[in-house]
Amino acid sequence: MENLSSLLMVRQLLERNENGHVIATCRKPAAATGLINMKNKHPERLSILQLDLTSESTIEETSRTVKEKYGVLHLLINASGILSIPDVLHPETTLSKVQKSSLLLSYEVNAIGPILVIKHMWPLLKAGGGHVTDREFAVVANLSARVGSIGDNGLGGWHSYRSSKAALNQLTKTISVEFARRKEPIVCILLHPGTVDTDLSRPFQRNVSPAKLFTKEYSVQKLLSIIDGVKTSDNGKFFAWDGQEIPW
Ligand SMILES: NC(=O)c1ccc[n+]([C@@H]2O[C@H](COP(=O)([O-])OP(=O)(O)OC[C@H]3O[C@@H](n4cnc5c(N)ncnc54)[C@H](OP(=O)(O)O)[C@@H]3O)[C@@H](O)[C@H]2O)c1
Repeated sequence: MENLSSLLMVRQLLERNENGHVIATCRKPAAATGLINMKNKHPERLSILQLDLTSESTIEETSRTVKEKYGVLHLLINASGILSIPDVLHPETTLSKVQKSSLLLSYEVNAIGPILVIKHMWPLLKAGGGHVTDREFAVVANLSARVGSIGDNGLGGWHSYRSSKAALNQLTKTISVEFARRKEPIVCILLHPGTVDTDLSRPFQRNVSPAKLFTKEYSVQKLLSIIDGVKTSDNGKFFAWDGQEIPW
């Protein structure tokens, strides 16, 4: 999460709660200059840990470290995701371009990784935290995308990305049902950040009107205000940046 909107999310989380601790993960901590600069400003309140969503052992190692250092986690945000990678992953415009490798990689990073993160962090997720008051539940927020909605799919295309986000949605909903059944004090939500000016959207911004292309600051602020206002009855819901529910 060194990149872009995730980095801003870390900054806004640190600024909103001056007693709060934030744990940021990324694939290459030594190269994460943005996070390192932030850590220099908040040495006591920010930890940077290595985690690669395609490697379950790094997820397990991170959860062990969080357990030893903090014991609990009040808010878990799965912010990472991939849409395209030069020479590796290209959003498909037609079925004839669909490749097994693209589907597998997209599923691995966008759906399987975040769910394994929740699985390994589950024992640490405890009530508390929150921006304004102590909450009676922990929050898990998974960044999805409106294009992961099957009901909202009027355009087609982007088979790997769409379907991996749909899988993330279904897995998150399934977990939310289990947490409710077990009376776990954990609320899981899915968030669509809008179309945001980041590396992820940059190659595809040509047809987006300026009014619909959000800055990272604006989107992160909107997402964090949804997270701040989350209620128990929101468990398992899929929200857009403006708080509107998105159909499955
Ligand atoms: N931007 C938009 O318009 C938009 C729209 C809808 C939904 N979303 C969703 O919002 C989330 C954030 O997107 P963004 O625009 O901030 O994307 P971004 O700027 O491209 O950042 C994506 C992040 O994912 C990380 N990542 C990629 N592969 C990983 C892996 N194997 N393990 C761990 N981390 C990995 C990247 O880390 P590195 O720094 O190591 O590359 C990067 O920090 C994503 O889930 C995306 O699908 C974005």
